[in-house]
Amino acid sequence: MTDLKDMTDVFEYLPDAVVLTDRRGMIKGANGQAAALFGYDPGELDGKEIDILVPEPLREFHRGHRSLYYGSMSVRAMGGGLKFTGRRKDGSEFPADISLSPFETPAGTIIISVIRDVTERVNLEEARRESEERYRALVDLSPEAILVHASGTIVYVNQATVQLLLAPSRQALIGRSFLDFVPPAYTGDVVRRMQATPEEVQKEGPLLVKATRGDGQEFYLEAIASRITHGGQPAAQVILRDITDRVRAYEELRTSREQLRRLSTHLQSARESERGAIAREIHDELGGALTALKFDIASFEEVLPPGDAGGLRGIIVEKLESMSSLIDGTVQTMRRIITQLRPVLLDSLGLSAAIEWLAEDFEHRTGITCETRVQGDDVLADHDRATAVYRIVQETLTNVARHAGATRVEIVMDIHEKTLRLSVRDNGKGVTDEQIRAPGSFGIMGIKERALIFGGEVSIGSSGERGTTVSLTLPLDGSREPSGAGTIAHHST
Ligand SMILES: Nc1ncnc2c1ncn2[C@@H]1O[C@H](COP(=O)(O)OP(=O)(O)OP(=O)(O)O)[C@@H](O)[C@H]1O
Ligand SMILES: [Mg+2]
Repeated sequence: MTDLKDMTDVFEYLPDAVVLTDRRGMIKGANGQAAALFGYDPGELDGKEIDILVPEPLREFHRGHRSLYYGSMSVRAMGGGLKFTGRRKDGSEFPADISLSPFETPAGTIIISVIRDVTERVNLEEARRESEERYRALVDLSPEAILVHASGTIVYVNQATVQLLLAPSRQALIGRSFLDFVPPAYTGDVVRRMQATPEEVQKEGPLLVKATRGDGQEFYLEAIASRITHGGQPAAQVILRDITDRVRAYEELRTSREQLRRLSTHLQSARESERGAIAREIHDELGGALTALKFDIASFEEVLPPGDAGGLRGIIVEKLESMSSLIDGTVQTMRRIITQLRPVLLDSLGLSAAIEWLAEDFEHRTGITCETRVQGDDVLADHDRATAVYRIVQETLTNVARHAGATRVEIVMDIHEKTLRLSVRDNGKGVTDEQIRAPGSFGIMGIKERALIFGGEVSIGSSGERGTTVSLTLPLDGSREPSGAGTIAHHST
């Protein structure tokens, strides 16, 4: 028996519980780990029946097992299908793995049982099974269509996917490539997305493509994918959404916006040409008539008989002179009206000069100091853009005069690298976001629209201290209208 004692001593160095038994099932030795595992004191197990380590209801089964084992004695490794339930001294039970090896001694065969408590593993497995069940239930019953694919081959779909794609059954979808449901024009997008890195996916957001239902009908689809493991293999779980209504609404909105913009562009240019026509008419007709009138008065004065007939001549000359200066004043007024109607200076001297003139005229009329700084070559701005900028400055200055209560305005225009930058800054009472966005703010709306026609941008705000700044950035080489194409719009319906 000493050699058994020696063996048990050696087993003290093992992390696992070791119990030695003889053919009859008597415990011949157990290491400290075994005693601790089963809740006994060191040495307490020696001489006891192995049965006490097994729950009562299982003892019979265990005995049968034991005799079977003696019939075909071999080494049985741990985890080789030998599940075992251990019973502690206090009666509590725990799941364990057991491995058996026979060992011949002069006193007969000894069975070495190595027992490992697997409670933790069993709990983990349980938890995993539960969480898998929860996931399954969630996905199976989700009203969102959810599909799992491995490199494009469908390995799982929920019922909602079957309904979305009008497929005969879930089974009918398994094993197929989901590219089968994507029209050729969009397969490139899908493949590209499948090869994208998570960062790229994050940046691009959900994938928008068209898809085909079982009945051949096409619809807009939004797909949000996340990487998962399915059956041990890398896979992707994709949430699919029919967004046809959303896309249609968006397209309608965009179309109507585009139409409005075109209408606005059309109205602006119609207004400009109408103003031009009126200005020409005033200039040619009224201007001509006034000039003729002025000449007539001058010649009338000449033909008056000399000598004062009872002071009559003096009165007539006086009247004629006042008529003449009235005509001069009218010509001045007419010129001003013409200039306002049509920026003639813009055509003859260019944008910079026209804005400088506008500033001078503004200062003269309102008494508000107006400084202008202009840099760069305004030849780069074509007639339509120059007119837009001119009108923007004009409306902005009108606003300053009407609303700001300012004493100073500064206009800075800079043309650089085919971009025109303009800012008009006043030192008035400032403007609020509500005022800017108010539905009746047609002046500001017009300013923005004029810029937008040429792909420009306007920002209006009161920064820091007092006053309002209107800033414009206008590309001078861009196309007339921003295309504004949507993500999905490049494939026609
Ligand atoms: N420079 C400014 N300083 C202070 N308030 C301003 C200034 N510019 C605009 N606002 C405010 O913004 C509002 C909207 O301006 P907007 O030019 O759109 O309309 P409006 O000048 O009132 O009318 P309209 O220009 O159509 O004749 C103004 O009513 C005013 O309250
Ligand atoms: Mg206004």
